[in-house]
Amino acid sequence: MPNRLLLALARSQVAKAAVSRAPVTRDVVRRYVPGETREEALDVAARLAAEGLHVTLDFLGEDTTAPGQAEAVVAEYLALLSDIHDRGLADRAEVSVKLTALGLRLPGGEALARAHAHTICAAARAAGTTVTLDMEDHTVTDVTLAILRTLRTEFPETGGVLQAYLRRTLQDCVTHAGPGERIRLCKGAYDEPDAVAHRDRQEVDAAYVRCLRLLMAGQGRPLVATHDPRMVAIAQHLAREHGREPGDHELQMLYGIRPHEQRRLAAGGETVRVYLPYGQEWWGYLTRRLAERPANLSFFVRSLLSK
Ligand code: FDA
Repeated sequence: MPNRLLLALARSQVAKAAVSRAPVTRDVVRRYVPGETREEALDVAARLAAEGLHVTLDFLGEDTTAPGQAEAVVAEYLALLSDIHDRGLADRAEVSVKLTALGLRLPGGEALARAHAHTICAAARAAGTTVTLDMEDHTVTDVTLAILRTLRTEFPETGGVLQAYLRRTLQDCVTHAGPGERIRLCKGAYDEPDAVAHRDRQEVDAAYVRCLRLLMAGQGRPLVATHDPRMVAIAQHLAREHGREPGDHELQMLYGIRPHEQRRLAAGGETVRVYLPYGQEWWGYLTRRLAERPANLSFFVRSLLSK
């Protein structure tokens, strides 16, 4: 299970500043975050698209502390969507958005984040593509799903994320298995208390399979977000069992994790989407990636010490 101490550091600017100064950091960040600028990210997106993959672009940032910051995030997404359109990438590239980057935790945050997300969804539609709302820690699950429901009344193509580790998620899958739903199912990356989340790996995997069964049997478009070979095999099996075609569900993985497998699955006819984050606010994202895999962390720490 994710390393609790590391996840606690995800919100520490002091830790970020200390680690950022180490020369090795750039290499580790680059493994998961291919660029700091929109242009770099779009170049990578175009390259992946040419290789038969789809992408979802995420402008990194979370837990915005001032309204002006949230407005800057919206402006970046609007520019990104315009560039996706202009570069002819709209049929291959969509965007992923975190509501706390849009001001969800500010006073009046729900209305603010909903209005900002609405602006981004309208721009995505104009650009010929879609938005998926990322899911953050359990304190914002209800509000995120409420905003998703509101957005879907006007933009039914908007997607959401459900985290299999949350004890509530099976019921959320029942709610979100209907026609037109696009649900990205992941295991979950935050440090959650036992009361709300399974913490044992086997329990999380079993919950993931239960959720997968529901979504695959439903009428929506399941977005199977995992690098776990067993979960991918089960998803493929369930898709066949329910007579699904490659175009009506997706396999999704993060940039930098199992890249050969991403290409192998796409070459085999699967719709594979790569989550492609960019920007300078990579700290929270990186700490979650390191926490997912202790081997990553020890490699990183050894590299830091050897410099
Ligand atoms: P698991 O952790 O069991 O890993 C399976 C295998 O994948 C590992 O054995 C290893 O080989 C490889 N692997 C996994 N993580 C790795 C890493 N960091 N570095 C190197 N190898 C690694 N979470 C969330 O809470 N909210 C969200 O909105 C999203 N969004 C999202 C989108 C997409 C497209 C993906 C793929 C994932 C997310 N996540 C997420 C993250 C997710 O919850 C989960 O933390 C990671 O995907 C790791 O879990 P796996 O399902 O890959 O299984």
